Amino acid sequence: MDKSNVPEHIAIIMDGNGRWAKKKHMPRNYGHSQGSKTLERVCEDAYNMGVKYVTVYAFSTENWSRSEEEVNGLMSLLRVYMKDAIKKSKKNNMRVRIIGDITRLAPDLQESIRTLEEASKDYTGLQFQVALNYGGRDEIIRTVKKLSSKVKEGTLSVENITEEMFSDNLDTKGIPDPDLLIRTSAEQRISNFMLWQLSYTELYFPEVLWPDFSKKDLEDAIAYYNKRERRYGGV
Ligand code: IPE
Ligand code: IPE
Ligand code: MG
Repeated sequence: MDKSNVPEHIAIIMDGNGRWAKKKHMPRNYGHSQGSKTLERVCEDAYNMGVKYVTVYAFSTENWSRSEEEVNGLMSLLRVYMKDAIKKSKKNNMRVRIIGDITRLAPDLQESIRTLEEASKDYTGLQFQVALNYGGRDEIIRTVKKLSSKVKEGTLSVENITEEMFSDNLDTKGIPDPDLLIRTSAEQRISNFMLWQLSYTELYFPEVLWPDFSKKDLEDAIAYYNKRERRYGGV
């Protein structure tokens, strides 16, 4: 594949873990644990294909409303994932950042996240973002609050609030907007993911359930992206 045609930033809504498990008569959390294996593989494949940034939706601000058992299962999975990621990020020269409001996560998980972000901050390989307790509306509101308090303190004047400086105060500060969004499992919704950043992103909705998402599915997604003629409101 010609690397010049590969999207620089792919965002993924990893959906369908529950349905995948159900089809196998297994508990939903089995689907999530298989889904986390798929994610590792996809990051590797994407990077080898020339993708620079991958951002995945792992847990939304709305996902707290799932059963206690499922939420606990997801949190345990994240704990293991974050610990492993410290070693893997070093091995693969991968920078990991978390987007979302981590203050609602357990203190030990917050600590692992800080350690991982700090340890990987200079790595120049794949730039990998994980959205945890993330909601696009919540992110925008937190940004508005941040900017409002600067205005109140007198360190920011209202006239200086531009799109660029607003972007610089989002969780994705310094990260280019996604070129391609993939949502698996045939659902065609944004579900509160990266509302600001997806303004001009190409959208792709394959039917495959996330745990089954293969290298071929990723190639198909990129081929779809290459067929699009991107437009930004011009002619
Ligand atoms: C996505 O899979 C993973 C998370 C939301 C954490 P789902 O759990 O939403 O799977 P379905 O949509 O029920 O199949
Ligand atoms: C979006 O999927 C959240 C994640 C993939 C983490 P959901 O499955 O939670 O979204 P809805 O409920 O179908 O919109
Ligand atoms: Mg779902």
